[in-house]
Amino acid sequence: SDLVPEFQALWTAAQRRPDRQQRGEVKLTRDGGERTLLVRIAAERLAGELLGFVVTFDDVTELLSAQRAAAWADVARRIAHEIKNPLTPIQLSAERLKRKYQGEVTSDPETFAACTDTIVRQVEDIGRMVDEFSSFARMPQPSIGRENLSNLIREVVVLERSRASDIAIELNLPEGDMMLRCDRRQVSRALTNILKNAAESIESRLVREQADDGTSAPGRIAVSVADGRGQGGDESVAVVIEDNGVGLPEAGRERLTEPYVTTRTKGTGLGLAIVRKIMEDHQGGLRLEDRPGGGARITLVFRDMEETANDGEKDPMKVATGLGLG
Ligand SMILES: Nc1ncnc2c1ncn2[C@@H]1O[C@H](COP(=O)(O)OP(=O)(O)O)[C@@H](O)[C@H]1O
Ligand SMILES: [Mg+2]
Repeated sequence: SDLVPEFQALWTAAQRRPDRQQRGEVKLTRDGGERTLLVRIAAERLAGELLGFVVTFDDVTELLSAQRAAAWADVARRIAHEIKNPLTPIQLSAERLKRKYQGEVTSDPETFAACTDTIVRQVEDIGRMVDEFSSFARMPQPSIGRENLSNLIREVVVLERSRASDIAIELNLPEGDMMLRCDRRQVSRALTNILKNAAESIESRLVREQADDGTSAPGRIAVSVADGRGQGGDESVAVVIEDNGVGLPEAGRERLTEPYVTTRTKGTGLGLAIVRKIMEDHQGGLRLEDRPGGGARITLVFRDMEETANDGEKDPMKVATGLGLG
């Protein structure tokens, strides 16, 4: 305990009760970082005589942090679920009220329509935020399969076209089907988040220019894919998404992929954090650049992954409890 004063309390206890093994968590702060050790002290005896004490310790810092993250994710998932459940009936009821009684309300039909529309819109916003929040909290280990990347991108683009119908989304895919070993749901999620940001930054530009002088270039997003595999290149597939929106903010660019960093009033700041996590899990990359001529150019770089049988082995909670802690 002269060497490690933090062990003092355990050490005193061990000397007082040499018949019992003492065990406890000890926090150490060295060189500015805090580590948590699991320390055990047991008496060593020979023929009833106390020879000394054996001290063993394990560094459980990472394990505890994984446990905490898993516990937090679990709470977040449950809360998100509880919030989402009532949203659909609220929305359907508001829509039904509007459909059914729109014609019957005579005293102030405008207010009636405005209020029901507000309910529907706000409920949609809550739903989207909760989706983003829970998918960030969830972020399962990717389950890798051989996927048709061309189709996957087409599907995401079709959905986005119907959501932002005033924006022209151009798609440039190489000929033939591109296959990639990846997690299809996560890759769709990443693309959707990037397209959503692009559409939002175009909307911001249009709103701003409307206020300035009323003339605007129409919104345009271009998605193009370059497959560098089998060409002696770096064996990667690059998906480039360009928009003619407001452009990335000048300041604090390197922090845009951190959770909760947003410049939008209704933003969650989770979109790019999710994309970054997905790209890290795919051993790929994410580049945020200016598009020549205005707007942003986002590049996602994918590599073929090893296929996995996703058996939940890597669930941090299971790893932690599997080691018999606590
Ligand atoms: N295509 C884009 N054009 C301009 N800015 C962008 C674009 N994509 C992301 N950003 C910037 O990055 C920030 C973080 O994005 P994101 O993590 O998706 O969170 P959110 O969309 O909720 O703000 C945005 O608030 C915006 O400032
Ligand atoms: Mg976003």
